[in-house]
Amino acid sequence: REAPRVGAMAEIGVIGGSGFYSFLSEARPVEVDTPFGPPSEPPVVGEVNGREVAFIPRHGADHRFPPHRVNYRANLWALRELGVRQVLGPCAVGSLRPELTPGTFVVPDQLVDRTWGRAHTVYDGVAAPVVHVSPADPYCAVGRQTVIAAGNDEVVPTGTMVVINGPRFSTRAESRWHADQGWSIVGMTGAPEASIARELALCYTSVAVVTDHDAGIAAGDGVTQAEVIAVFGRSIGRLKNLLTEVIGQLPKPDTDCSCRHSLDGTAGEDLW
Ligand code: ADE
Repeated sequence: REAPRVGAMAEIGVIGGSGFYSFLSEARPVEVDTPFGPPSEPPVVGEVNGREVAFIPRHGADHRFPPHRVNYRANLWALRELGVRQVLGPCAVGSLRPELTPGTFVVPDQLVDRTWGRAHTVYDGVAAPVVHVSPADPYCAVGRQTVIAAGNDEVVPTGTMVVINGPRFSTRAESRWHADQGWSIVGMTGAPEASIARELALCYTSVAVVTDHDAGIAAGDGVTQAEVIAVFGRSIGRLKNLLTEVIGQLPKPDTDCSCRHSLDGTAGEDLW
């Protein structure tokens, strides 16, 4: 079978989280090379709500990559190679606030990166120029507004996501500390995904699905992997419906979003 030609195959990318392994019904896999090795899975490309979409399951189709071993650079690079300019990054998170109950969707507007040891930049100064981008507002304002509008009051429109390295969950003290900082949700994959997207001048929007109350809020045993998987599984239908709406409503990629200008004035200005 002739390999499909890479480039201009999709405009919107979706990186599925734990338990989110498929999205497109008539999906065509595309092999894409990246300077960082293979993505978690060859992206599949197909139509959703009238738009061309590329999908990658973040942890691999069989969930073989724990959060600290996901090749975030390759996943985002591969999507970009296919023509994607807007990325939706759904993920499972724990809640640090009593009112954010399991099943709630949060559209975070801020991020705290507490990960370490991950390949977190495409500009490592070896084969690439030294580039400093600003993640001051780490998520795409246009993408966030689209999710909030499509969510019809069913999504919480702001929140700060703290990203821990995992794969273990937090201790009670860590969890209480995260909550005391005013942070609202905790996950393991939101970083460095968001900042690498910014480095590639991609629009990136997170949709966080609350699966548990983490360790600090509720008494009891703290969060378990089984709880996360069960709640995410129950939410997946609603999540796919929401993303389908969002994909139909996202402005066309020629919209002059500030995310596309993330490299202006840097040594990477002429790269893309
Ligand atoms: N993903 C889902 N629940 C989580 C939690 N409590 N902590 C970190 N990542 C999570």
